[in-house]
Amino acid sequence: MKFFADTAEISEIEELIDIGLLDGVTTNPSLIAKSGRDFMEVTKEICALVDGPVSAEVVALDHPTMMKEADKLRAIADNVCIKVPLTIDGLKTCKALAEDGTMVNVTLCFSANQALLAAKAGATFISPFIGRHDDNGFDGMDLIRDIRLIYDNYGYETEILAASIRHATHVLESARIGADVATMPPKVIKALFNHVLTDKGIEGFLKDWAGTGQSIL
Ligand code: E4P
Repeated sequence: MKFFADTAEISEIEELIDIGLLDGVTTNPSLIAKSGRDFMEVTKEICALVDGPVSAEVVALDHPTMMKEADKLRAIADNVCIKVPLTIDGLKTCKALAEDGTMVNVTLCFSANQALLAAKAGATFISPFIGRHDDNGFDGMDLIRDIRLIYDNYGYETEILAASIRHATHVLESARIGADVATMPPKVIKALFNHVLTDKGIEGFLKDWAGTGQSIL
């Protein structure tokens, strides 16, 4: 499973690159606003830091303007992945960009039928929003399960990018089902390391080691 960081904060991205677990980055207009940075500038910086895909989202709602925005964004770097919403104009844009060899992430997916449409439009990634689905009384995991089944039924190569992940259990369940990618806030990636028995084990080993009076170095 690939791990993407869902953030536009450079320091968080650098920290994850340093750990060695980062396969890509996703941003959205809200994350750009939160960063307080210029969209083009911060996207360029992220693309230079990260080897994998960096999702940058269009904000227009009509196909011709989406294409103009996408043209500006994809000129930033080869690893820019254009993020479009799951609408008719979004999927028209997805098809045109995909046919032109540009990576596309179709976002705001809340049904398996929507995911089917995105795959038919040639999306590189489909982003089902698990947390927001759960918040509204649905089961985000059922969504991932249905998309996996449908994509496997027809051999679609569109990758399932589990998004709106809130906690470690979302990651575990997405991995069990076979989502290709999980995009997570950096704090969720770091939380995956935690286990009380790991901490307790280290504490016990170090206590016993201290009793030996030895040193490795
Ligand atoms: C994905 O690409 C989105 O940016 C993100 O996962 C949205 O998550 P949220 O529901 O926590 O805002």
